[in-house]
Amino acid sequence: MAEIRKAEGLVDWLDQRLAIKTLNKVLATEYWVPKNINFLWAMGVILMTMFGMLFISGLFLLMYYKPDVNLAFDSVNHTIMQEVYYGWLWRHMHAVAASVVFLVIYIHMFVAIYYGSYKRGREMIWISGMLLFMLFSAAGFSGYMLPWGQMSYWAAQVITNIFGAIPFIGPDLVVWIRGNFFVSDPTLTRFFMLHVLLLPIVIMATIGLHFYSLRIPHVNNEEGEHFDFEEEAKKYKEGKKKESKVIPFWPVFISKDLFVVGIFLIFYFYLVGFHYEFAMDPINFDPANYMKTPTHIYPEWYFLWSYEILRGFFFPIAGISPFNLGLMGFAIANGVFLILPWLDRSPVVAPAHKRGAFKIWFWLMLIDMVGLTIFGKVPPNHVYFIGDTDITPWFGFTFTIGFFILLFIALPLITMKEKRRAGGAR
Ligand code: HEM
Repeated sequence: MAEIRKAEGLVDWLDQRLAIKTLNKVLATEYWVPKNINFLWAMGVILMTMFGMLFISGLFLLMYYKPDVNLAFDSVNHTIMQEVYYGWLWRHMHAVAASVVFLVIYIHMFVAIYYGSYKRGREMIWISGMLLFMLFSAAGFSGYMLPWGQMSYWAAQVITNIFGAIPFIGPDLVVWIRGNFFVSDPTLTRFFMLHVLLLPIVIMATIGLHFYSLRIPHVNNEEGEHFDFEEEAKKYKEGKKKESKVIPFWPVFISKDLFVVGIFLIFYFYLVGFHYEFAMDPINFDPANYMKTPTHIYPEWYFLWSYEILRGFFFPIAGISPFNLGLMGFAIANGVFLILPWLDRSPVVAPAHKRGAFKIWFWLMLIDMVGLTIFGKVPPNHVYFIGDTDITPWFGFTFTIGFFILLFIALPLITMKEKRRAGGAR
């Protein structure tokens, strides 16, 4: 055993047993961050804050929520909202956080795409980030079921049904997921388990992996500049702070980050206090009723783009079963960003505004996904007409085709061109 001296205080006592000073150095005071990054790099810490908010508000809700089809709706809409002191506040905090967390995730993802932060050794950061996106999606969906309102029930019906289209195992898989032949009590209890136990544990572990994957490549910077962190850190420690390109995470970088988090929290609590309704669908204030299908079923705003891809292929295309095509498109759309580092194989790590055609690609992709989101909320038909022809499905179909062209044709072509140019420049 290592030699233990008489401690000079609590910190020294802990340090002799847990090496907390070394840990603090490694994780905070000597964890180096580039100087030239802007407020968009605070999104990660905002996401951590929002996850904390979801976790704590979730614990309070869990004290009164009842996972039973006969009790769930009232436990939320009556007990929590009307009987428990500040129950409404915890519920609004939870629902609003669940919605804005996706807004911040999308910003965080698109910032990474804009600056090429998924390339050159940063693939694992990107992959663990995409795993977090998928896990948050599963958490969002399973949480939406818990109040057991009309949308909870029918969304569960639609989404679990999708698995039925998988060849051979589909129908059995649907029964297995539902725990019954139809969406019912066992479906609610298993989604409850996922939402309050399994998913939070896996999310915490994946956040750990995401942070760990930042250690070696470090975060990117506004210019995509590649430099020697050890060398720059040495300059900083020698007192050449102006000359050095890095700052320590604690206390310098975090103070900037916390400023941005503070501004974000003002926005968040404003929504919680005054506009919480955007995060709660009015149809979900009616209890689940399997005898009454809502006229228009749609998911929360953050799933609308991929839902529209699912619907986009409901278009009758001769000879091909339209449902399976929609399902394939939906599955590919949800997983395709995972392989982004391999679709964009250009060695150029630079912000999009310095990458010519990639800049156009970036903005077209954003517009396409916003377009899919808007049309994902439109009822399936009979909205827009040219003469007597209903052109509504064409919008979703066009944006869907656009999405796949951008990813599988335009992006590899752009990066091939960049690769050739980079090769020629060498
Ligand atoms: C949802 C939970 C998430 C948390 C808590 C989180 C947290 C963080 C933090 C703290 C950073 C470092 C600072 C920063 O750049 O903001 C970071 C960086 C990064 N994250 Fe996330 N992230 C999450 C989700 C995602 C998702 C969904 C993606 C995209 C697929 C992603 C991709 C990245 C990338 C590529 C970087 C490196 C950025 C750079 O090098 O400039 N993260 N994340």
